[in-house]
Amino acid sequence: MCAPVEGAAGGARGATDADGVETGAAGANGAGGASNASDGSSAGGEVGWAGSARSAPAPGAFAGDGAAGGSGGRVRIDHLVTSGTFSLDGGCWHVDNNVWIIGDDEECVVLDAPHDAAAIVAAVGDRHLAAILCTHAHDDHIDAALGVAAATGAGIWLHPADRELWDRTHPNHAPDREIEPGRRFTIGTGDDAVALTALHTPGHTWGSVSFHAPALSTVFTGDTLFQGGPGATGRSFSDFPTIIESITTQLLGLPPETVVRTGHGASTTIGREAPARQSWLDRGH
Ligand SMILES: [Fe+2]
Repeated sequence: MCAPVEGAAGGARGATDADGVETGAAGANGAGGASNASDGSSAGGEVGWAGSARSAPAPGAFAGDGAAGGSGGRVRIDHLVTSGTFSLDGGCWHVDNNVWIIGDDEECVVLDAPHDAAAIVAAVGDRHLAAILCTHAHDDHIDAALGVAAATGAGIWLHPADRELWDRTHPNHAPDREIEPGRRFTIGTGDDAVALTALHTPGHTWGSVSFHAPALSTVFTGDTLFQGGPGATGRSFSDFPTIIESITTQLLGLPPETVVRTGHGASTTIGREAPARQSWLDRGH
């Protein structure tokens, strides 16, 4: 049996607010604007992947260097919501998950692969999917990863500290690549290229990762930071002081206008969340 929402157990903060869930279809951008690259000032050409040509990606490689083909245009953020369950510690909850697709007209990456591989593949469309980047390995974020990978040939990337969680969902299929802190994934070509930098933000899980895209004025936080505070830390593989440390040192120092696009529910901004840090400490979750 599944309870209504993730976060109902153990006093942990609910990750899905019924009134905050974005329901836009693929192609629609989440709340908060700043969805398009505003200029060509991103770190195009910064090599951060196991580069292979767009036309001939190696299995597991991040094939986004645009060596073959022309510009795919401006990098944009597409968003869809998929629904399913989250299970851990003997509990099960119905959840809606955000899927973020960052790319241009030719190639893209997806952040998380929850619940519905067909919907995610449809949102990618005829673009080359360069990578499936997992914010963490709770089952609701990775349960469709193998299906998306099989349909697209994209490699699955995960921080190694979440491997034990991953293996509970996919015991017979390892992720293709490990996400190292500071790793840059560059999407698009030339002046339109946009870099995503991986930030290790443990606490919700040990291998939780956020992805910062300065050129999009966005940080994708998975379940580490939501509108209203930190993600849940009431279950196994999580720790409240650790998530506070991660948010404080890795996220709250980003420019206040940075849009926080989350794993569940509505977007927020760093500037909106930063002043509430003491209240999170006071309430203890
Ligand atoms: Fe989670």
